[in-house]
Amino acid sequence: MNNSLTLKEYSDKIKRVLITKEEIDEAIVKAGKLIDSFYDGRPILLVSILKGAFVFMADLCRAVSVPCKIDFMCAKSYYGGTESTGVVKIVMDLKQDISEYHVVIVEDIIDTGRTLNDIVKILKARNPLSLRVITLLDKPARRVVDFKPDYALFTIPDHFVIGYGLDCDEFYRTLPYIAEYDLDC
Ligand code: IMP
Ligand code: MG
Repeated sequence: MNNSLTLKEYSDKIKRVLITKEEIDEAIVKAGKLIDSFYDGRPILLVSILKGAFVFMADLCRAVSVPCKIDFMCAKSYYGGTESTGVVKIVMDLKQDISEYHVVIVEDIIDTGRTLNDIVKILKARNPLSLRVITLLDKPARRVVDFKPDYALFTIPDHFVIGYGLDCDEFYRTLPYIAEYDLDC
């Protein structure tokens, strides 16, 4: 997709809304409550995986009441298309020692599972007090490595999706809902 696409070309690719803004908002309130009851007043460090999880992180961190710090890592496995390359690269790492923290990884979507499988291994080796994974979306049909999140807000079928932080070639992250991307038009 090039940067000179028209508004019509841009809009035509949004095939249908899969998850509305209201459904996302409701699921995030529930996830925030679950985090609060699980950590029961203990401080946590939310680690969001850029770029896709930035919108989810912004909403989730405001839905929790336990003391909370935030940090970001950037991992890349897609290089401008809709198919994973299978190569996970950490392009921005955490700046802090995590050994004193209950860490919660905040991810946008688990697809093949490779990204989180690698990130979890890397962070576990740094000996956090605990490590759990929350993902907005889970696409289990596409798994190539055996990876299960501790909590998924929505489980979706095998569609390429956009919106609410998720992109196709860097576009569509700003949509307030999750939509199916039209691969055919
Ligand atoms: P995995 O390593 O295959 O699990 O893929 C993880 C990353 O690929 C996610 O964090 C997303 O950034 C990206 N990704 C996977 N599926 C989709 C999708 O349907 N739409 C947009 N990005 C996706
Ligand atoms: Mg991601």
